Amino acid sequence: MLSAVPETGLRVLVTGAARGIGRAIAEGFAAHGGRVLMQDRDDIDALPDGAIAHRGDASDPADIEAAFAAADAAWGGVDVAVANAGVAAKIPALELTPERWRQIVSLNFDGVFFTAQAAGRRMVAQGSGVILALGSIYSVAGAADRSAYCATKAGVAGMMRSLACEWARHGVRVNTIAPGYIETDLVSALVAQGRIDTSVIAARSPQRRLGQAEEVAALALFLASPAAAHITGAVLPVDGGWLANGAP
Ligand SMILES: NC(=O)c1ccc[n+]([C@@H]2O[C@H](COP(=O)([O-])OP(=O)(O)OC[C@H]3O[C@@H](n4cnc5c(N)ncnc54)[C@H](O)[C@@H]3O)[C@@H](O)[C@H]2O)c1
Repeated sequence: MLSAVPETGLRVLVTGAARGIGRAIAEGFAAHGGRVLMQDRDDIDALPDGAIAHRGDASDPADIEAAFAAADAAWGGVDVAVANAGVAAKIPALELTPERWRQIVSLNFDGVFFTAQAAGRRMVAQGSGVILALGSIYSVAGAADRSAYCATKAGVAGMMRSLACEWARHGVRVNTIAPGYIETDLVSALVAQGRIDTSVIAARSPQRRLGQAEEVAALALFLASPAAAHITGAVLPVDGGWLANGAP
């Protein structure tokens, strides 16, 4: 029987790991004996045992490469890379400035590619590895006022599918995690701005609730485990049935 938990000692790099989903994923791997490099543009409090913090901008290829180089220096490589850093944006299309568009695409799309590329360079050479990217229900669905966000998240799914095909023969698996609405700062910021109403979101979900960061981390851990050995190129929702629900 293949184990559904990750092996101990995995070398894990997570971008945007100071808070929210990235932090939950980093803590999940650390709790399973992983050595985790937690990358973020902000300081990171209360590092889990065995974790390293690395400050940088996950949209900047040089900063991303520096984070991977720090993992190389500490552990001689990376087994699992999670391209998690991302920004929410609920802005009507007619109000999107070129600067804001480029800022969203630069982190949510370009940064994910440069993270996957830095991971792929190492993993293809070592003949093994797992790359996970944070997509969204908006990798699949569309929504008003989210043209930039939906474009980046759909693009991430397409990018990961292609990398999965390109690197499968080198023992590297690449998947997209597609969360629904998860209770993190990203969602509370949209609530504080009056841009979303969580009671409406909960009512739209078959489970009648938002998700927790730990529930997304659980999928990341599974995808890095031996039980997921035949899963690559997939977009896996963790959304309480949100995408399945066609009713209003
Ligand atoms: N929360 C949700 O409902 C939800 C749903 C679907 C997908 N996602 C995706 O999951 C990922 C994480 O979301 P979250 O809810 O945990 O967000 P969050 O805002 O709670 O946390 C994001 C983290 O990324 C860091 N970060 C932001 N910009 C960065 C940059 N340029 N460089 C390095 N770090 C940076 C922040 O400092 C923070 O620690 C994002 O890609 C998001 O789009 C979130």
